[in-house]
Amino acid sequence: MKALILSGGKGTRLRPLTHTTAKQLIPIANKPIIYFVIEQILGAGITDIGVIISPETGERVRAVVGDGERWGCQITYIIQQEPLGLAHAVKTARGFLGREPFLMFLGDNLIQGGVKHLVDSFEQSDSEAIIQLKEVENPQQFGIAVLGEGDQIVRLIEKPPQPPSNLALIGIYLFKSSIFTAIDQISPSWRGELEITDAIQKVIDLGYRVEARRQEGWWLDTGKKDDILEANRVVLDEYMRSINKGYVDQTSKIIGRVEVGLNSKIINSTVRGPVCIDEGVIIKDSFIGPFTTIGKNCCFEKIGVEHSVILENCHLYHVDRIEDSLIGYNTHVQKGSTQRQAIRLFVGDDSQVMV
Ligand code: G1P
Repeated sequence: MKALILSGGKGTRLRPLTHTTAKQLIPIANKPIIYFVIEQILGAGITDIGVIISPETGERVRAVVGDGERWGCQITYIIQQEPLGLAHAVKTARGFLGREPFLMFLGDNLIQGGVKHLVDSFEQSDSEAIIQLKEVENPQQFGIAVLGEGDQIVRLIEKPPQPPSNLALIGIYLFKSSIFTAIDQISPSWRGELEITDAIQKVIDLGYRVEARRQEGWWLDTGKKDDILEANRVVLDEYMRSINKGYVDQTSKIIGRVEVGLNSKIINSTVRGPVCIDEGVIIKDSFIGPFTTIGKNCCFEKIGVEHSVILENCHLYHVDRIEDSLIGYNTHVQKGSTQRQAIRLFVGDDSQVMV
């Protein structure tokens, strides 16, 4: 079986970060989101992976992900010239996918537990598609499925104003080649896109059986700033281990699960895990609180920070409390006065913030 990862799109809800990077490349616990997706696909035994990219961010995705050699798999890039919808992306990948069944995975989604059980059950099933679902509190914002007998899906609607159920499509789909026949028969939706949800409905209308599977563990859709912070919290909580490859001086305290990367230095500071610190980071006279991820070559002095994601090469000086913040690459933050107030940030690459 092959897999198709969708890594196009404009990532408008994550601007300004997505002016210069693809949302699928934003790191969670210092690992690009798309790496988690690739590793889950490999965990299901699939090693032939197509990645849909956009002309705007595709080269960056290619540069960061590569040809798959580091994982021992084969990655083929397919350019979707315009963001005309998920079904349009599948149509664009038709040459790569051929007539084999395939797994499709949205490149900005993370789930607990992987997809092996799903792929195995599709290989044994005579259904034309299997769709992964999860109950949500805001069904208006997703594709929604209605179930009939057992696991059978009888109806699907994309972002319905009056949702008939709270079972959302979470962006993990298994298809056979009937999906191409269906895509050829649908029209663009109100948002001008060929919706995969409409294509699956068409597969049902053509008389095929489509089955649902429930996602029991967590599912993180990393489309917005708070989703990234939540994904960071969940992933640090679940995977972080204590590893020290750097230097921690005697006046510093490391409490709980903290990873300190190669050539990083912690001086006269307290770090309370779970915290992930990448390589070449310098932290001086600071407090780093739980659920914080710090990217390569950052430099902090007299900083208090918690529940935040700070990307590579940021310089932060003299800010008592930074919380719930997502800070883009190469950002400088410096505080001039001594007022003790919490600040909340969502700033993009190359920004300068003087508070
Ligand atoms: C897309 C799909 C939607 C699905 C969602 C999952 O929405 O169209 O059916 O529920 O992904 O993340 P979009 O992210 O394009 O709004």
